[in-house]
Amino acid sequence: MSIKLSSGKEIPVEMHKARMVQKIWLSPVEERLKAIEEAGYNTFLLKTKDMFLDMLTDSGTNAMSDNQFAAMMKVDDAYAGSMTFYEFADAVRDVLGYKHVMNVHQGRAAEHLISKVFAKSGDVVPTNYHFTTTKVHIELTGGATCLEIYTDEALKTESTFPFKGNMDPQKLKDTIEKYGREKIPFVRMEATTNLLGGQPFSMENLKEIKRICIQYGIPLVLDGSLMCENAYLIRQRERGYENKTVAEIVKEMCDIADLFYMSGRKNTCVRGGCIATNNKELFEKIQPWLPVYEGFFTYGGMSQREIAAMAIGMREMVNPDLAGCAIEQIKYFIKRLVETRIPVVTPPGGLACHLDAMKFLPHIPQSQYPAGALTAALYIASGIRSMERGTISMERDEEGNEVFSDLELTRIALPRRVYTMSHIEYAIDRINWLYNHRDLIKGLKFVYEPPVLRFFLGKLEAIDNWGRGLSEAFKNELGDY
Ligand code: F0G
Repeated sequence: MSIKLSSGKEIPVEMHKARMVQKIWLSPVEERLKAIEEAGYNTFLLKTKDMFLDMLTDSGTNAMSDNQFAAMMKVDDAYAGSMTFYEFADAVRDVLGYKHVMNVHQGRAAEHLISKVFAKSGDVVPTNYHFTTTKVHIELTGGATCLEIYTDEALKTESTFPFKGNMDPQKLKDTIEKYGREKIPFVRMEATTNLLGGQPFSMENLKEIKRICIQYGIPLVLDGSLMCENAYLIRQRERGYENKTVAEIVKEMCDIADLFYMSGRKNTCVRGGCIATNNKELFEKIQPWLPVYEGFFTYGGMSQREIAAMAIGMREMVNPDLAGCAIEQIKYFIKRLVETRIPVVTPPGGLACHLDAMKFLPHIPQSQYPAGALTAALYIASGIRSMERGTISMERDEEGNEVFSDLELTRIALPRRVYTMSHIEYAIDRINWLYNHRDLIKGLKFVYEPPVLRFFLGKLEAIDNWGRGLSEAFKNELGDY
């Protein structure tokens, strides 16, 4: 939650205490330069020992609760028929309102199964915006095309529009008319839209999209990986929802979707995922494939210990202290950066603080990956690991041409219940330092480029070796740290 101090200043306050801790190190800038060079200017390839704050992602990096750890001690390890799975199914029924559920090992496994079962070559899947793994599964497993039907506001990085994750209803209708209903296996809505900078959709929009889906007889699939943050923001921003609880809003969202899936690594703070629905027919189309790719239906690629922790996480995730914990930190983080005119995605959303690399580094063309360069530069200047969410995260087209991303973002994620105010203050300070030295940063070029999801394993180098100049400027002004 946020608390207003007597000075009038509002600060995020952690509604938990740390009772188990993990050591972190801040290495000197010279070593940080060496580490990023060895990692091919790709923060995915850094090692934890070389970083101070790991703000790469909120996926699988959240702090579990005491009750989750306790639940992991007492599980039913049966391969088939495990009671731990049925306890999880009870939590899904109570929290999401779905009767049918299957576990999968993580979110992309759900995307794989759903794409494989429902999408075929020549189909199109309209979505409010793609996620990297979703797009690859729709295009590779299903052979379909992923179409983005966002609103005009979505790509404006500086905005006051509260629901940049909305789908444009008119454009959806036009798309269905253009391709024909039979070419559209499902419409996909993603909560707290990841690649748009963690931006929510409104309940009104979700309902309108559903009305269109009903009109044409197309199932609506909800990617609820970041659903609780979306619900928390609906409560804060949408008229008529101010007196509803996050739990009520989550249930209402789930009630609208025909088919639901989530990565459990975010909201439930545990490795895993699930697919759930009240539509038996849809469920039965997917279920036979589960043992082929994931495991028997009472474990679906997860260990029973993880399922036990996920059952507790499912019940805890709708608590506003958890649903809002990253959101309030991000709001503070972004407000402070806006004060010093750092180009950052607004309004604040969920998941992360996103720097707008095209505005931060206007001298770097997209062909030289401004978001990748900024992400590497932030690491050199701070030891903070963030993530490139721009052209490097895109796939080349069939002819091998570069596909430029709509947005070039450096994503500084806030895992739930992990970092404190002083960590955020440190990040704000180093981002400001970097902004004042932005002319020292140049572009990147690939030296090794994998054929798929290249952002994970690709290696790049700094044009004109700019990393050295940046680290020397840092050392001259601030010393080793
Ligand atoms: N959908 C959304 C909206 C996601 O953010 C993610 C993962 C997935 C699906 C895939 O889930 O990782 O469990 O297989 N997002 C992570 C991130 C990787 O860093 O934003 P997964």
